[in-house]
Amino acid sequence: MTTFLLPAVSSQIEHRLASAVRDGLASRPKRLPPWLFYDEAGSRLFDQITELPEYYLTRTERAILAAHAERMIARAAEQTGNEPAGNHSIRLRITELGAGSADKTRLLLAAAVARQGTLIYEPVDVSPSALEAARQRIEQEIAGVTVAPRVMDYTHDFEAATTADRRLVLYIGSSIGNFDPQEAAELLGRVRAGLKPGDALLLGVDLVKEETALLAAYDDAVGVTAAFNLNLLARLNRELGADFNLESFQHRAVWNAVESRIEMHLASRIAQLVRLERLDFEVDFSAGETIHTENSYKYRPEQAETMLAAAGFRPVETWTDARQWFSVCLARAE
Ligand code: AVJ
Repeated sequence: MTTFLLPAVSSQIEHRLASAVRDGLASRPKRLPPWLFYDEAGSRLFDQITELPEYYLTRTERAILAAHAERMIARAAEQTGNEPAGNHSIRLRITELGAGSADKTRLLLAAAVARQGTLIYEPVDVSPSALEAARQRIEQEIAGVTVAPRVMDYTHDFEAATTADRRLVLYIGSSIGNFDPQEAAELLGRVRAGLKPGDALLLGVDLVKEETALLAAYDDAVGVTAAFNLNLLARLNRELGADFNLESFQHRAVWNAVESRIEMHLASRIAQLVRLERLDFEVDFSAGETIHTENSYKYRPEQAETMLAAAGFRPVETWTDARQWFSVCLARAE
C-alpha cells in the first residue's frame, strides 16, 4: 500500500458518495445505500452495536467460530482428490472480504497458524485506513501472520492474486445480508469466478427467527442503532454541506416478512425542505416520508447452501448455535 494513492482513492470515494446521494434522494421512495453508514463516526457506532445485548449477531457468530475454528480450517485444507498424489501439505491463504471483523477473524487466523506455522492473510476493503488498522492489529497480535492488504471494491469486482496455496475466502459477519437475493447470488458468483477449484469460502449468514428478537436487534433500548442510522444524515451535513436537522428525523426498524428482511428507515417527522449545498441539490419531505437506508436479509438454514450451490460452490459443512440463530457455512469451489 502506498500513500500517494490516497488522494485518487478518496476523490473516487467522494464522487461515489455524491452520485449515490443524488440518485438515492431523487428516487421515490427515497433511499440511501448502507455502505454510507461507515465513516469514522459510523464505524465506531457499529462497533458499539456489536456489543449491545440485543445485537445477537456478532456474539453468536463469534461463539460458533470459537467452538469450531480448528475444524473449519481442517476441512478447508483437506484433500479433495484434485491434488497431485502424495501432496499432504495443502497450505491455506486466507482472504477476507471486508477488513472489519477483528476478533472473529483472529480465531480463524490463529487456527490456521496452529496448523501450518505461518499464514498470508489478505483483507480486501475499499478503505485504505481500515486496511492499515487491520494490518497493524493482526501482525502485532498473531505471530506467523503476514498481512497483505488489497484495496478493492469486492462488491463490484473480485480478483484474487495467483497463488499455489489453496485460498480460503472469509465472508463473515452477515455482510451478505445487505444484498438482495439476486445481488447476493451475483456477488457469490463473482467470488467463485476469482477462485480455482478446491478453494473454499466461509460464509456467515443470519437466520430467520422470531420477530421480537429481530426488531430488538435493530432498534435497541439505548438508541445506538438509531444514532448509527441518523449518523448518515450527519455525514451528509459534514461532507456535502447539507442542512438535515437530525431531530426532525426518526429511526425506524421494520420486519418485512414477505421479503424476509429487516428494513431500516429514517422518517421525516414533519414536512420540510433540505438543502445539500455541495451538490447544489434540494429535496423535500412530506410528514412521515421515509428514506430507506438498509436491508438486512435473514435466511432459512438451507437457503444459504442453495445460494452457494447456485454460485458454483459445493457446501461442505455448516455450523450453527443451539438456538439456530446464525449459521456459518463452508463451501468449496467446484
Ligand atoms: C454489518 C450488515 C451485518 O445488517 O446487522 C447493524 C449492519 N445495521 N445494525 C446488519 C447493521 C444495523 C449489519 N451488517
